[in-house]
Amino acid sequence: MNISKTMQDAFNKQIIAELWSANIYLSMAFWFRKEGWKGFAGWMFKQAEEEREHAIDMANYVFSRGGEVKIAAIEAVDTEWESPKAAFEATLKHEMDVTEMINKLADVADEEKDRASQNFIAKYIDEQVEEEKSVNDILVLFNQQSTHAMHADSHIDRKLAAMQG
Ligand SMILES: [Fe+2]
Ligand SMILES: [Fe+2]
Repeated sequence: MNISKTMQDAFNKQIIAELWSANIYLSMAFWFRKEGWKGFAGWMFKQAEEEREHAIDMANYVFSRGGEVKIAAIEAVDTEWESPKAAFEATLKHEMDVTEMINKLADVADEEKDRASQNFIAKYIDEQVEEEKSVNDILVLFNQQSTHAMHADSHIDRKLAAMQG
């Protein structure tokens, strides 16, 4: 194995966090679907798939360095939210927490002087900037139209549905 055990274990932890993220977004997708919000549900399904891809991409990287990956228990997730806006607020908070985790993963790569892992993690640092931005853009829509809440939610729901083509 040409990856340190410390680095491998840090990746394993992040892989579990990515799967946890996937579950959070899948849970939100199911809730949105139950509530009849098709655009929001579609957006969350797509998000869940991306998180699963992150987990697999990280696992493939660990394998390519001769390490191994083991999935452990994944934290339980919420199953309902107060409103569409509340779900997106929870999403932003979650993505900010994930950014912290990715930063810590990068710290481990620095401590381990693991340049390959530093390079690999760099794309996830960029990815988190994008993720936070896209959620923030949606929250801006909610905040701009908070006066006619129900009507505004429908408008944003259709907008997200249209974005998915
Ligand atoms: Fe992710
Ligand atoms: Fe994410």
